[in-house]
Amino acid sequence: MAAQIATGASELRDITKMERIGAHSHIRGLGLDDRLEPRENSEGMVGQAKARKAAGMILKMVQEGRIAGRAMLFAGPPSTGKTAIALGMAQTLGPDVPFTMIAASEVFSLSMSKTEALTQAFRRSIGVRIKEETEIIEGEVVEIQIDRSLTGATKTGKLTIKTVDMETVYDLGTKMIDALSKEKVTAGDIIAIDKTSGKVSKLGRSFARSRDYDAMGADTRFLQCPEGEVQKRKEVVHTVSLHEIDVINSRTQGFLALFAGDTGEIKPELRDQINTKVSEWREEGKAEIIPGVLFIDEVHMLDIECFSFLNRALENEFAPLVIMASNRGMARIRGTTFKSPHGLPADLLDRVLIVTTHPYSDHEVRQIMQIRCAEEDVTLSQKAIDVLALMSKETTLRYVLNLISCADTLARKRKAEVVDINDVQRAYSYFIDEKRSVQWLKEQQGVVYEEGESYISAKNDVMDQS
Ligand SMILES: Nc1ncnc2c1ncn2[C@@H]1O[C@H](COP(=O)(O)OP(=O)(O)OP(=O)(O)O)[C@@H](O)[C@H]1O
Ligand SMILES: [Mg+2]
Repeated sequence: MAAQIATGASELRDITKMERIGAHSHIRGLGLDDRLEPRENSEGMVGQAKARKAAGMILKMVQEGRIAGRAMLFAGPPSTGKTAIALGMAQTLGPDVPFTMIAASEVFSLSMSKTEALTQAFRRSIGVRIKEETEIIEGEVVEIQIDRSLTGATKTGKLTIKTVDMETVYDLGTKMIDALSKEKVTAGDIIAIDKTSGKVSKLGRSFARSRDYDAMGADTRFLQCPEGEVQKRKEVVHTVSLHEIDVINSRTQGFLALFAGDTGEIKPELRDQINTKVSEWREEGKAEIIPGVLFIDEVHMLDIECFSFLNRALENEFAPLVIMASNRGMARIRGTTFKSPHGLPADLLDRVLIVTTHPYSDHEVRQIMQIRCAEEDVTLSQKAIDVLALMSKETTLRYVLNLISCADTLARKRKAEVVDINDVQRAYSYFIDEKRSVQWLKEQQGVVYEEGESYISAKNDVMDQS
């Protein structure tokens, strides 16, 4: 079985998600210059210079293939751009390096064990670039000659094909004749035939024949007759993730399971076989491993079992760079009664590089607001900007960004182009933020149903904003 491990083709990339204006749709990269210095305001990113630079450095190492099996943690108060920076990293990496993003709670909600879910996420983040050599026949068709048998059941024929330097005659069987007539190949066409699959592709028509016919479709491409030998070797490269190779080889329905998402648990023996095979390919120079990035958001939601699995998995031969984010300060480690920084056990913390994010200054908040306004196509009056910037100090950046679109809807209702301070005020009165919601609950004591424990205020659990 290990001898024929299928890898599928490059079409197996994830289907791109539909574009819409989401919370992070203004983020287009990390906004760093060539020396990895963060620009003040670039690619949708503002401020948070240290964290961006750290992210950029790590990325550089990933791109050079120098780092794998490391872990990094973004720690900071809510809405200070941890998720935004991770998305910026994903966009900088380019299409060939795998980037997987999961929220820690996803591990619990799938119909498989926690460790299997984590293993799949790990293997999804490792790319294998496979080089394959195929033989192709490429040249200009001189003549196609087809002989039918008396009954018409079998066809045989000859294909004469030439390049500038040589001319060759090939014998044709029924299948090839069908393939050629399906592509409507005639003399004067430049074609390529894949020798392994027998696939015929029409590349265009020869310049030499361009004057033979006047009636020609507008989309006809004229090409020079190719040079060199008729039969050539060509190298094709495609990148798949280890997880894709696992899935294709694990089930009878093969890669269909990839689209259905119904991958189930994959046997460790199969993974071992695939690892061995991929290592073999690597030694033979047929494949290259591209360690990618796995981003685990809200990592404090993982439990102690997952953390101990992570410790071990990071030391595995095929481990990606793991980036985690948490907004917790001292928090209980899920599954235990111990408290620990960021809700992560000490032995894992010891393995990670920690990068902190900080609340934004007034100037930065204004710039982020401006970027969001451009993204959402909203115009704010100067006073509205002032009041929102002031509000962000009392509440959070995210609340303020949410208010922009609400206030815009109110402004549109009164048929105004510019969102004014009144619209913001009204939106502020309709939608309360976290602090006011706590206040409101206090006032409503006894009216709203309450559960035993009292509310864990932001001060206790979430990282301090000051
Ligand atoms: N430096 C920045 N430049 C531009 N936009 C930013 C920046 N930082 C944050 N934002 C935007 O602010 C909002 C909140 O940021 P984000 O979701 O990244 O916070 P977070 O640190 O992940 O918070 P949480 O801990 O609550 O998950 C998002 O819409 C994000 O795109
Ligand atoms: Mg986040």
